[in-house]
Amino acid sequence: MKIKIGILTLSDRASEGIYDDKSGASIKELMQEWISNEKEYFYEVIPDDFELIKDRLIKFCDEYKCDLVVTTGGTGPALRDVTPEATEIVCDKMMPGFGEAMRLESLKYVPTALLSRQTAGIRGSSFIINLPGNPKAIRECLEPVFPAIPYCIDLIGGGYITTDESKMKVFRPKHAIKNV
Ligand code: MTE
Repeated sequence: MKIKIGILTLSDRASEGIYDDKSGASIKELMQEWISNEKEYFYEVIPDDFELIKDRLIKFCDEYKCDLVVTTGGTGPALRDVTPEATEIVCDKMMPGFGEAMRLESLKYVPTALLSRQTAGIRGSSFIINLPGNPKAIRECLEPVFPAIPYCIDLIGGGYITTDESKMKVFRPKHAIKNV
């Protein structure tokens, strides 16, 4: 089964070409490394603008029908950081455990982990998760919580994600495991 993945980078500077979007690239690398399904990517780099972020998240979920949407950047306390707000407004349901777990894990690396307001939620059959903007944060945040994401996507009617178990072992209750 083909899995559709949206990668949305929120950064005023990356969107102006002042620096390369290393975080978006690193999200794609991890998806390639972990997910064994055939994959289709939707990728955009946009400024930290609430209406733009909202618009793109809705497009990734409703028009492109992404199973998984990963954002990077705009989660901090600065005035322009509005990714969690835009995520919350487009979601039917929030999944606060992901933000909590990612902050706790990041705290092992950097005390300012607590400055990230990153969250996750569901819109229709799409799962949206926020990551901070620092390229180093991508693996640090996603690796510990990814094992719970495929089952969450099963429960909302998205595609059945399979992984290369030598790289990423996901968890599903026994009754939910399919032989694909
Ligand atoms: N989490 C991890 N794992 N690694 C990091 O380097 N940086 C922190 C925090 N979380 C960081 C992290 C810092 S300094 C900030 S300000 C917030 O994420 C928000 O970053 P953002 O606004 O780029 O999303």
